[in-house]
Amino acid sequence: MTSFQEYSAAEKQARISIEKCTSADELDKLRAKYLGRQGVLKDLFSQMGKSPESERPARGRELNRIKKELTGLLEKRKTEFGSVSKKEEIYDPTLPPPFVDKGKTHPVIKILKEVENIFTSMGFGIAYGPDIETEYYNFTALNIPENHPARDMHDTFYVKNYKNTLLRTHTSPVQVRVMEKKKPPYKFIAPGRCYRRDTVDASHLPVFHQVEGLMVDSNVTFSDLKGVLHLFAKRMFGTKVKIRFRPSFFPFTEPSAEMDISCGICSGKGCPACSQKGWLEILGAGMVDPEVFRYCGVDTAKWQGFAFGMGIERIAMLKYDIHDLRLFIQNDLRFLKQF
Ligand code: PHE
Repeated sequence: MTSFQEYSAAEKQARISIEKCTSADELDKLRAKYLGRQGVLKDLFSQMGKSPESERPARGRELNRIKKELTGLLEKRKTEFGSVSKKEEIYDPTLPPPFVDKGKTHPVIKILKEVENIFTSMGFGIAYGPDIETEYYNFTALNIPENHPARDMHDTFYVKNYKNTLLRTHTSPVQVRVMEKKKPPYKFIAPGRCYRRDTVDASHLPVFHQVEGLMVDSNVTFSDLKGVLHLFAKRMFGTKVKIRFRPSFFPFTEPSAEMDISCGICSGKGCPACSQKGWLEILGAGMVDPEVFRYCGVDTAKWQGFAFGMGIERIAMLKYDIHDLRLFIQNDLRFLKQF
């Protein structure tokens, strides 16, 4: 049989635990331990049945008193914890907002959009073509004869089991597709992915981006080409940039040239970034070869045109001073977060 001393021992123990308690969670556990359905008080009440009948009213009163006291004490402590968590919930509009790590545009796509904006602001449209091309559009119609080294298996991904089908090695086939369908005049750019069978290193990726440009009209000269590309270079790299054209060769343009911009790091004096040359190559260009016009059914007596093509990764590397192409595809957040 339980004695009255045991009642007060249980009460004392409960009071100490509740007073010492430091969290709302702990308090819930103590409530269950002492006042819960399988708690200490419930147990004492049920043992009361074993005591002599004459003692039961006094025992009942005592246990009810303890129950009331402990309930009051638990309530009191609960409000203390409650008020702490309320304090935490107070909204302070002067605090800086929580940092949300949003996704960002990939640097290559950022440059691609910039190039698009510059040319569309000059009145150029945008044309798209398929990534999977035929030999005809990728090579033949661009005056790249069958024995040309660019057709070599080492440069081109051919699509297995589909004869004459490949992943385009440049965006120039879009020129052919547009010229075949539309009547000049037109000026447009063709952005997109290109593919070449290159082993990945600091300056080669098997998948990369190009922007092609084509302008065909009745009075287009090499001066127009220079003017448009000079304006592009200034908008892209700043008004101080200088440009120069070097003679070059592309089967689909005649004459052909490569355009360099003055090195932004040494301002043309020569430094490691430009291999001491003071100039950096950024694109290939030229006047559309009459042979290409013939393939596309454009009357060479009436129309002339210029074309250019640039690698977007290359522009991004120059603009952001990045020395390794592989950084663009490694998805390292420390790199990507900088743009
Ligand atoms: N298609 C060429 C290349 O991939 C670039 C280019 C386009 C050159 C148009 C001249 C005119 O290298």
